[in-house]
Amino acid sequence: MKRNSIHQFALSGPLAICLATALATSPAQARDMSAQPSAAGTVEIEPGQPEWAAPDAEMDRFLDELIGRMTLDEKIGQLTLLTSDWESTGPTMRDTYKADIRAGKVGSIFNAYTADYTRELQDLAINGTRLKIPLLFGYDVIHGHRTIFPISLGEAASWDMEAVELSARVSAEEASAEGIHWTFSPMVDVARDARWGRISEGAGEDVYLGSKVAKARVEGYQGDDLSAVDTVIATAKHFAAYGAAQAGRDYHTVDVSDRTLRDVYLPPFKAAIDAGVASFMTSFNEVDGVPASGSRYLLTDILRDEWGFDGFVVTDYTSINEMVPHGYAEDLKQAGEQALNAGVDMDMQGAVFMENLAQSVAEGRVDIAAIDTAVRRVLEMKYRLGLFEDPYRYSDRARQEATLYKPEFLEAARDVARKSMVLLKNEGDVLPLVGSAKSIALVGPLADSKPDMIGSWAAAGDRQTRPVTLLEGLRANAADGVTVEYAKGASYEFADEGKTDGFAEALALAERSDVIVAAMGEKWDMTGEAASRTSLDLPGNQQALLEQLVATGKPVVLVMLSGRPNSITWAEDNVPAILHAWYPGTQGGHAVADVLFGKYNPSGKLPVTFPRNVGQAPIHYDMKNTGRPIELGAPGAKYVSRYLNTPNDPLYRFGYGLSYTDFTYSPVTLSSAQMAAGGNITASATITNTGQRAGEEVVQLYVRDLVGSVTRPVQELKGFEKIMLQPGESRTVTFEIAPQDLAFTRADMSHGWEPGEFQLWIAPSSGAEASTPVTFTIQE
Ligand code: NOJ
Repeated sequence: MKRNSIHQFALSGPLAICLATALATSPAQARDMSAQPSAAGTVEIEPGQPEWAAPDAEMDRFLDELIGRMTLDEKIGQLTLLTSDWESTGPTMRDTYKADIRAGKVGSIFNAYTADYTRELQDLAINGTRLKIPLLFGYDVIHGHRTIFPISLGEAASWDMEAVELSARVSAEEASAEGIHWTFSPMVDVARDARWGRISEGAGEDVYLGSKVAKARVEGYQGDDLSAVDTVIATAKHFAAYGAAQAGRDYHTVDVSDRTLRDVYLPPFKAAIDAGVASFMTSFNEVDGVPASGSRYLLTDILRDEWGFDGFVVTDYTSINEMVPHGYAEDLKQAGEQALNAGVDMDMQGAVFMENLAQSVAEGRVDIAAIDTAVRRVLEMKYRLGLFEDPYRYSDRARQEATLYKPEFLEAARDVARKSMVLLKNEGDVLPLVGSAKSIALVGPLADSKPDMIGSWAAAGDRQTRPVTLLEGLRANAADGVTVEYAKGASYEFADEGKTDGFAEALALAERSDVIVAAMGEKWDMTGEAASRTSLDLPGNQQALLEQLVATGKPVVLVMLSGRPNSITWAEDNVPAILHAWYPGTQGGHAVADVLFGKYNPSGKLPVTFPRNVGQAPIHYDMKNTGRPIELGAPGAKYVSRYLNTPNDPLYRFGYGLSYTDFTYSPVTLSSAQMAAGGNITASATITNTGQRAGEEVVQLYVRDLVGSVTRPVQELKGFEKIMLQPGESRTVTFEIAPQDLAFTRADMSHGWEPGEFQLWIAPSSGAEASTPVTFTIQE
């Protein structure tokens, strides 16, 4: 059983005196009255309970006392989160938020940061309200706060959990130094439809990889100690199944079976809980006819009763209000009742609780005990962060100045960025650009565009001056005697399709250069929230310029900057080298240069399937076989599950990515072809670097359950390991598999494995033909 030191704090300074006056029992008095710790100075916490949730008798006494003194309106204030006017991340703005703080009507604020501004707002709560309850400050710190890392989907492409955790750790250090207590991250929505703009914010399409990334991010943000001043509360969002929006259109209806919900969309949320996540955010969508913010099934039955979640639940932006247009509530008052009674603790920006909940209590539609439970969850978090001890402890200008953009943060951002890039094609070893490539023509709308480097949801990231563009990065890192010239050439704006204005300049530059680097893709705000597309092609006139660049006969390297899989089928057929660089962050230009010049050997693998064209969406590797799989028919046969005009296969598979070196995989060996119900087996393969350069490889384990009480996917990722091999070096990678790793939601809706025959692959990517499977059975 895990043990955790008892939470202790020293109450000092004028604020402590003022709090002690306001409350009959101050935190210090409560501590003095509390039971002494055990001989070892520790208290025991329940198995599976996060360390921050350890029982704390002095906290309980303090909160009992405080809640006992609160009026109903003060309680409802603690359940209200409002945005400041520094930024808008949704459709509404309440410009009275400062007056609301002073009136005790709001307990938490988001979109406000810097030590000075959070201190100024905190002052309003501490010196302007009766009970002086401190504010909690939240913010969308998604892939960096000031130092911006690659977008989340890019980080997942590194398959490097230490890198993912490091990014979250740096984000927490910077954000907390600017007064932030709470990040609205990680976004753990499984996403399988590239039309959906928010595919950029998560870890991609896979349950297993998504769960590992969720864990790494939560641990990075929250660290070992939630009360430490350089950690922040993490939020698992958006609960639930937001990524399954119909037709990839944001906020659209979700209709998934309970089995798919449990097997595909929920596991990363459970992984976040297992990692100790302290808050959850609801999603905008409905699930099986019920908007998530009003779903007792999701927020109480599953989250609290099945999973035992200890933290608090916030809604997404005005999503309680949206239950009215959803057609689930007849007015805001009813929507508020539905949300609170379903299990919501805090209303983000809707002011529905603020304006209606007291009336609902008076009418007996909401129980005061339910409000007290929600209030306690919120206050508990403020207490555990040490805010009752010192409400200004995160708002420290000296720490802010010493923390932001530390050189080691910038170095980490560069390293994570290059680890995230995926080499999709490298015919004739065009890359790396060494030797004869003395003059480089850099063209395209993303070649020298600072705002695009950091992508969407880039928190307080400076979009205008700090990001290093490709032009800057290539020039700064080119070998002596190598020139890099630039012409924008094309545009990514939808409206510019058909225009050719800049083509001549770009083509002239291309003609006088040894190699062309085309930096193309999407504008930064074409992904993220409210950024769905019905085409996955290159927007604007980029495709037309790309074709003319290739027609020059010069070698072309396409560097894609984008937050979604694009259908670059023409490029795959015609461009010799393609690197997908996502939106690589503040140091992006340097990181791209490291890869193009061979200072870093690319090692990323796709966390999402790239379709050939939009008509294949949604597409993912772990599909079902169907009763008429294409292999059963003769080539071109009718009456099988296929398209008339496009192969079933994607353009690039999940897990795919090349290196500047080559790896071979030996056949898989199993410790036994029989797995006992209570036992496990190991599967091993030897991977050899057969090329000339050192390189990293992501070795992947896939399994197929051949027959089940319900049909099973054609492959499921069950393990991976990223290894570094020197030229000529071999390493045997061994995975252990036990029956519970093969569990799913069975026909009777119970969760567990079933005996029978399984196929297993150890392979460089998904795809049944990526290597030869071996077979094992689980015995009855
Ligand atoms: C709406 C988004 O869906 C959510 O992810 C974000 O955290 C909130 N707005 C707050 O900005």
